Parts: sequence; structure tokens; C-alpha cells
Amino acid sequence: MTSATESSPHRDPDHTELPPSSTDSVVRSTGGSVLSRPANILFLFVGLLLFAGLSITVIRRRNSTVQWGPDAFAFEDKKPAYLNAPASEPLVIRLAIISRADEFEKRQALREAMLDGIPSAYVQLDYRFFVARATGLTSWITRQRVAREKSRYNDMEVMDSIRDVAGRISEKRFAALKWTGLSPRDQYDYSMTMDSDSFCRFRALAQRLRHVYSDIKPRTDPVLLGSMSVQHVYYINTVPDGNPDDNEEDPHVIGPWYSYPAGIGYLLSSNLTGTLLSTDPPLPHHINYPSDDVMIGVWVAGLQYLADPNQQFESWNRDDGPVPPHRVYPKPYLPYTIKTNVVDDKTGWHDLKNRGRAERAVGWDSVCVHHLKPDEMRALRWKEEFRGEWDTKITS
Ligand SMILES: *[C@@H]1O[C@H](CO)[C@@H](O)[C@H](O)[C@H]1NC(C)=O
Repeated sequence: MTSATESSPHRDPDHTELPPSSTDSVVRSTGGSVLSRPANILFLFVGLLLFAGLSITVIRRRNSTVQWGPDAFAFEDKKPAYLNAPASEPLVIRLAIISRADEFEKRQALREAMLDGIPSAYVQLDYRFFVARATGLTSWITRQRVAREKSRYNDMEVMDSIRDVAGRISEKRFAALKWTGLSPRDQYDYSMTMDSDSFCRFRALAQRLRHVYSDIKPRTDPVLLGSMSVQHVYYINTVPDGNPDDNEEDPHVIGPWYSYPAGIGYLLSSNLTGTLLSTDPPLPHHINYPSDDVMIGVWVAGLQYLADPNQQFESWNRDDGPVPPHRVYPKPYLPYTIKTNVVDDKTGWHDLKNRGRAERAVGWDSVCVHHLKPDEMRALRWKEEFRGEWDTKITS
């Protein structure tokens, strides 16, 4: 029932607000004498069904109560002072949300619960959803709905040249980086990327960056911030763009361990973003799911280690068979080394309790929470402790 309702086209914003009277008029206008009597009855029946569907949807949304686990929240500590600090000047963020074409409900929840009403004194935000070309049996319907959504909200980048499958997510991430780079480096602070099932409190995030991480200077320092895991693979960009095989991957070698921002999302300072976009050839970006987040760590670690003669790299390739690992000399992304300040903020960025390895109870410091369903995003936004962080008047 839940999933059927969630995917129902009646929840599309085009239709949700339809008042009952318009449904009546639909029934009336199709009840002209041109139609035969059975057709009239059929239309009436369909109309009634539609009306019933709409009413149920509207009632469900009003009454939707989310069942949180018993340990989902932890607010026992006092509210940290940084969350009450006045805004000095707004933090400028360019945000990319990596989304699947058919995630209509999630995008709508993010627009309503997260993106609408962010106070401009704290955050100046420009954002886009990144989706690709829908695939599958009903893809033509999905593509039409995406096209309508895109023209209605003007907040989507639709990558028609690639199929909307997991194997291409890393290409969406790279497209997001390039989109960020369209803005001059001295006019924004962070390039940010998040998953479509993450929920971020942007005002709190800005205050956290300003006050908890006050030593970071995003316009002049290379900085990567998120919830970190470790890896030691390094990819080399060889797969050509536009290759038709969704699963072809850039080859990799093994080198020094590094941190990468696992799941959830991440921030790249504008200074680092500029460097990442300056390489020739471009950074590797044909990397299979679920290593699309590892790729971000590869970019950053590659800038630091590939051009460093004191670091060693070895071949490691399943296809090598019995060939033992041997030292290799991959071409550096840049001829000089860049050491990035990698900030692991596991308190601020985490999974919901019982929803992943980075699980943690949601508290004052939880600025980006991962693995949320649309109803849970709405519930979080209106949660007593958080609701004041958005400008929107309380109406529900
Ligand atoms: C990053 O900032 C440094 C100064 O700290 C500057 O020299 C460098 O050009 C900047 N890089 C980019 C790509 O903006």
C-alpha cells in the first residue's frame, strides 16, 4: 500500500493540489451528449476512482506519522552554542544531488522538506538534481515525467547521453563537479554532493563549518569534508566518454591508503574543486557502483601521492592471473603534489540508526543524515528541535 501510494502519479505536485471541484468538472465536461450512455457511466466511474485516490493521498500526507526506532534520537545534551550563533555572511554552496530518474517522490520531499526556506542570511544555495536517461519498460513515461518536472522546477540536469543505471553514477558525480565549476572559484565556498536519500540541515551545516571548523578557508585551502572510510586503489582515466558499455571501468593500481567520503555526501572547497577540474586528461570518472564515492577519495589522494616519488604503486589486476604484483609508475593527474585537508566529520554526517555502518542517533550535530525515506525527511524538518532552522512558517 505504501509503495503503491508513493509511486502513484497522484502524488505528483501537478495533481496533488487538484481540488475536488476540478475533478467534478472533468466528469461534467466529459458527460456531453456526444458520448454514449455506457461511456458516460465509465467516465463517471473513472472520475470517482480518481477522486477517491486523491482524497486518500491527501489524507495520508496530512496524517503521515513516522515510526522512529526507540534509539533514533539523542538530544539529551544541551544545544551547542554554535547553532545559536548569528550569521556573519552567508556560506555559498553549489549543491548537486545524485538522483535516479524515477525518484520523483524523493526529489519532491527534498524540495519541500530540505531546500525550501533555507535562510539566505546563513546559506546561499544553488542546486541541481543529476539524473540520466531512464531505462526499462516504462522508460518513455518516466522520461516524459522527468521532462515536465525539469521545466516546472528548472532544477535538474538530465544527462541524456548515459543510461540511468548504477554503473554510471560516477559519471553523474563528475558532471556535477563540472557544473559546479561553471561558477567562478572566487564566488562560492563549497561544491557539495549528496545522495537523494540524505537529508541536510543547511543552516546548521553552515554554522558548523563557520564555528566548529573555523580554521578552514574554502576559497584558498584544498579541503574535503564528509564521513570517511579508507581505500588504497587508484584509478587511471582510460575509458573514453560515450562508451556504450555501462560496466566498463577505468583500470586501477594499488598505492598508499587514503580516506574517501563514504556514502551520504561530501563537501569540496572551491579551491580544491578548481584544481580537480584543471587536470588534463580529466580525472578518472568511469568507476563502477558502489565505488563511485571511493572515486572522490582517489581524486584527492591522487593529487597528493601520484606525483610524489617517495610513494610506491603496484599493479593489481584480476585479469593478470598468475602475474605477481609488480611496481608500476602511473601518470600523475598533475605534475606537482597537492595536499588536501581531509576532514572526517562522523558526528555531523551519518546514517540513521540501524540503517548502515555509519549509524548514529540523530542529535544536535547531525547536519547530514543518510538513508531516509521521503516521509522521514518531512518528519525531520518539522521535528521540534529543527523546524526553526527554515524560514517557512509553520503550517502543518
Ligand atoms: C588555491 O589557493 C591557493 C592559495 O592558497 C592558490 O595559490 C591556488 O591558485 C588556488 N587554486 C585554485 C585552483 O584556485
